Amino acid sequence: MGRQRYSIVKRHVDGMGELDGLGLESQREWREVKSRYNRRLRQHKIAVIPGDGIGKEVIPAGLTMLRALEKRCGDFELTLQEFPWGSDYYRSTGLMMAEDGLEVLRKYDAIYFGAVGDPKLPDDLTLWGLRLRICQGFDQYANVRPTRILPGIVSPLRNVGEGDIDWVIVRENSEGEYAGHGGRAHRGFPEEVATETAIFTRAGVTRIMRFAYELALSRPRRRLTVVTKSNAQRHGMVLWDEIAAEVGREFPAVAVDKMLVDAATTRMVAKPRSMDVIVATNLHADILSDLAAALAGSMGIAPTANLNPSRKYPSMFEPIHGSAFDIMGKGIANPIGSFWTAVMMLEHLGEVVAAERLMSAIERVTANCELPADLGGSATTAQITNAVCEAL
Ligand code: NAI
Ligand code: MG
Repeated sequence: MGRQRYSIVKRHVDGMGELDGLGLESQREWREVKSRYNRRLRQHKIAVIPGDGIGKEVIPAGLTMLRALEKRCGDFELTLQEFPWGSDYYRSTGLMMAEDGLEVLRKYDAIYFGAVGDPKLPDDLTLWGLRLRICQGFDQYANVRPTRILPGIVSPLRNVGEGDIDWVIVRENSEGEYAGHGGRAHRGFPEEVATETAIFTRAGVTRIMRFAYELALSRPRRRLTVVTKSNAQRHGMVLWDEIAAEVGREFPAVAVDKMLVDAATTRMVAKPRSMDVIVATNLHADILSDLAAALAGSMGIAPTANLNPSRKYPSMFEPIHGSAFDIMGKGIANPIGSFWTAVMMLEHLGEVVAAERLMSAIERVTANCELPADLGGSATTAQITNAVCEAL
């Protein structure tokens, strides 16, 4: 029910509130409207961008699930507006998203995103034209990537089971190696040159460190690992370390350690229980979080949130995987990553009960049902979606 409708109902409820004189059918309808009004359904406007490849499979699955969840909970309403942006849109318009796309998206409470990438188009064009344009345009500087081994899922690591991996990777999402700073000259000549400059600013590093410490403080183990490469990269990464130490003084309750990125990969494999929150640069966290997803079972389950913590702009929620050319169109993409990211979206929107209900439905399905192909089973996207909807 739209806001306008509410105000009409409110006038009626406050004013007359009389059922006399109405037919039986209208009375029933009126009571329904009045009871919905009295429950004050919370409203959330979500912009939905399936994008490319399996994004067009896992996001529709997510929408089916969200509608079922909305019905189950009954105390919030979602407006789900789809946008056809991505590589097909590019083929017909020459743009990856509408020119005024950011203005349009700004009016939404959150963005639910699939993946972008097309076998026939350059990856830098598709990624920068859509996903990075949104992340940067909305200053979604904190990319949050939880990793856990869900019940029923087997880690490729020997002797590592449920509870042994419980990490949140915090990825700096606005600058660093993906700042887009650089260029190419003398194209095609032997003296051709390309530069790709990593950018680290005091403001950018300070805010991501503060975000990571605060997150670590909110978790039971209160541990933070600062991932760096300040032995070889002696400018940006040294600033990164210095600011990590400075901000850390504000958080004496957080146990912090520093780790070179190459060593961090071995620690994730050899001593996964020793890590909790991990903060890393844009590139380092990109790589570490794919490793994390694989150690927890598969790329297909891992979620992420691109947050604008000030809430000045909408935040964006997506599975971490890409458009998976090798399996697109087969109906076997694992939709759990897109469901788990919906959990993060619901938490962000303040729908904590719905988020918990969804997460426990996902966990009941992974524990008790046939798993999809990437997790060694044979369940299709549709079967997993039905199972989760039923478990809600
Ligand atoms: P990818 O994540 O698309 O696929 C890597 C492997 O994981 C593939 O074997 C794929 O089948 C499997 N996989 C991924 N998600 C799965 C799921 N839900 N269920 C079952 N299996 C799944 O990464 P790749 O192959 O490096 O990139 C393909 C395209 O996606 C490229 O164009 C790349 O630029 C783009 N990409 C986009 C991202 C985004 O939109 N956020 C993130 C990563 C890649
Ligand atoms: Mg990645």
